[in-house]
Amino acid sequence: MRIGINRIGFATARYYLDMDELSAHNQTDPNKYRTGLGQDKIAICPPDEDIVTLACKALSPIAASRDLSNVDTLLFATESGIDQSKAAGIYVQKLMNLPKQMRIVELKQACYSATAALQLARSYVAEKPSREVLVIASDIARYDRDSAAEATQGAGAVAMLITQNPEILEIEPISGLYSEDIMDFFRPNHRKTPLVDGRFSTTAYLKALEGAWEHYQQQGGLADFKALCYHLPFGKMGVKAHEKWSKLNHQTPDFSLLDAGLIYNRQIGNSYSASLYISLCSLLENREDLAGQRIGMFSYGSGCVSEFFSARVCEGYQSALFHQHHQAMLESRSPLRYEQYARWHTPDDGEFGDAVFHDSESGTPRLAAITQHQRRYQP
Ligand code: COA
Repeated sequence: MRIGINRIGFATARYYLDMDELSAHNQTDPNKYRTGLGQDKIAICPPDEDIVTLACKALSPIAASRDLSNVDTLLFATESGIDQSKAAGIYVQKLMNLPKQMRIVELKQACYSATAALQLARSYVAEKPSREVLVIASDIARYDRDSAAEATQGAGAVAMLITQNPEILEIEPISGLYSEDIMDFFRPNHRKTPLVDGRFSTTAYLKALEGAWEHYQQQGGLADFKALCYHLPFGKMGVKAHEKWSKLNHQTPDFSLLDAGLIYNRQIGNSYSASLYISLCSLLENREDLAGQRIGMFSYGSGCVSEFFSARVCEGYQSALFHQHHQAMLESRSPLRYEQYARWHTPDDGEFGDAVFHDSESGTPRLAAITQHQRRYQP
């Protein structure tokens, strides 16, 4: 049975910080960010945008174009959770008028958890082919201001409808796994921003890629890919990963396999669990020659868990994409001055009393207020 991604939509914040603006503040050469890290812009959320509103916006083109009454499971992947108990997907169910006959859970393992959700969804549809699953990944990547990691912030969400007989991507059964207990990036409950050792994390990522790729090959997985997508905490990481993967296969790196997958992330920055799948959108929407071809996917979540898996692009996939919608969203964004970004950097979370949020003109749904510790969304 063919199972995979039938539809895929993504959303990002309506505002961004240009690397020139950050480098002027930091008095850093902008080429460090543009060339050294592979980033031009990073998406910045206003206080009335959160992982729920981003998730709804990612889902909206799917919901507008397709009946979702066969969806009975919503898996919400995030590492920027808004509640220690309640799954963020329940807000999405209400705001998007999804069926009430539905199981909804949240999954966490740094930037990896959307891949776990995708694989669980695949197994579930194999068991119950008439059912459909929504996998949503939504994250706001925020580090301390004036830290080395500040230039690798960002925000974004992806929504994927997983079904039998998919129209975009068939997920292949083999996957290579590698996980290990390390402390390259983590966010204890008392912190709003993570603690990250970025250079250690880069090394750990490449080690995990090697381990997961070896495991993939041990099961008979082949390297005949027409394109590869890697988790992108920053664009240059994809370049480093592709160099490593090529070396493991005794090949000279062919960056034409990688480049289309970097385009969107260069404009958005890190979106943690959504990052790999925004890269997938970037690849599918910016290459025209992928029908029937295999692509390799590497998912990495600090801490760490990683997975290398593969997929085959469906014939006619382009007609199921939301290319124009995504393009218009990216082009309609507005730049922020550094001072405005700084004001939005650490929004009020209602910890010390009620909070009301101005309309940032990011569209609906929006987070209108937090009262009595409860999030109030404007549909
Ligand atoms: N022009 C061009 N390139 C330049 C440059 C310039 N003027 N100045 C520096 N560079 C290059 C460096 O050579 C380096 O490239 P390399 O890694 O290929 O050698 C790159 O820019 C970054 O410079 P570096 O000094 O290493 O940056 P940094 O230590 O200030 O911070 C990170 C970089 C990635 C470590 C930091 O942004 C970070 O920790 N980010 C978070 C990463 C993360 O989220 N990881 C966890 C999830 S997987």
